[in-house]
Amino acid sequence: MKNHISIRNVNAFYGEHQALKDITVGIPEKQITAIIGPSGCGKSTLLKCFNRLIDLTDGARVSGKIIVDGMDVLDGSIDVTEVRRRMGLLPQKPNPLPMSIYDNVAYGPRLHGTADKKKLDQTVEKYLKIAGLWEEVKDRLKSPANKLSIGQQQRLCLARGLAVEPEIILCDEPTSALDPVSSQHIEQQLLKLKNDYTIVIVTHNIHQAIRLADYVIHLYLGELVEHGTANEVFENPKEERTRAYINGTLVTDMKTDSEVNLKGNVCPFNFVYAKQALHTLEKGKILKLIVDDPTAVIEVPRGMEADGHEVLSVKQVNKTDWEIMIRKNE
Ligand SMILES: Nc1ncnc2c1ncn2[C@@H]1O[C@H](COP(=O)(O)OP(=O)(O)OP(=O)(O)O)[C@@H](O)[C@H]1O
Ligand SMILES: [Mg+2]
Repeated sequence: MKNHISIRNVNAFYGEHQALKDITVGIPEKQITAIIGPSGCGKSTLLKCFNRLIDLTDGARVSGKIIVDGMDVLDGSIDVTEVRRRMGLLPQKPNPLPMSIYDNVAYGPRLHGTADKKKLDQTVEKYLKIAGLWEEVKDRLKSPANKLSIGQQQRLCLARGLAVEPEIILCDEPTSALDPVSSQHIEQQLLKLKNDYTIVIVTHNIHQAIRLADYVIHLYLGELVEHGTANEVFENPKEERTRAYINGTLVTDMKTDSEVNLKGNVCPFNFVYAKQALHTLEKGKILKLIVDDPTAVIEVPRGMEADGHEVLSVKQVNKTDWEIMIRKNE
């Protein structure tokens, strides 16, 4: 399989914090690659390196190479506008421009010099059709985009992104703000689009990754844990950590032997209390921790692994809370 994006030895830092550690991996052409892993593992950071959106974050530094069609995206001398034109981004929350449905889709083509009304009409229709929205909006193209439902707005954003004719579509949790039916719409469009586009999707949702992905990249604490075809990774992962992550995420109510609510605590107390809780358990038992301190989401699993315990899953359960499942080993 020919790679469309080749990532070589990519390291990314936010100030002192290293968010990506020596990532080398390929993204095959005209396939869907899912980037999976717990919150904070670097999924969005990797995506933002592809289209250099990371340049907009103060204090962020990236090294290594990201080769797209022979061009190194990370090379300081390349034209960033051209890089972004080649890669459409579908964000987590739909962000329609404050203008009509029509103008949203026509925005990119106009910016790139298309002024002919008839041509624009055709372009708008074409991409609204590809995004699966045409039938729902064809009679109200001049009405404001923000009158659409959230799910429709996300398909409009897809149409707007496609109208500048990218080769690659980057999606960061594109359905996490959507209801199940709207999510299904977006998933169906992505499956159709992979015939013509290379697609990279970041998702928390293992079920979504199973439905969509041809290839999977598993990140954990900024490192590449595993990369392979979706079959390999989901059916027979090479790495125990991948198996643990997938199982931990799939098993919705894993049998726990003890549960500790650490909400309201900060680090390092989270870690200290978690250690105490584990101390009272026998080897092999499973402890569930509930934390709401973003630092704990990274530091507690890291510390537990350093102590030799097994981190089975790290899962965001609502806006503020995470569940960390740990199997006692020592
Ligand atoms: N602008 C920033 N400044 C400082 N640190 C950041 C910034 N953005 C991200 N980070 C840190 O870099 C790490 C990776 O973040 P990233 O957003 O890539 O994770 P993610 O896997 O996308 O997580 P999520 O699933 O929660 O979206 C995290 O530890 C995060 O706290
Ligand atoms: Mg993210």
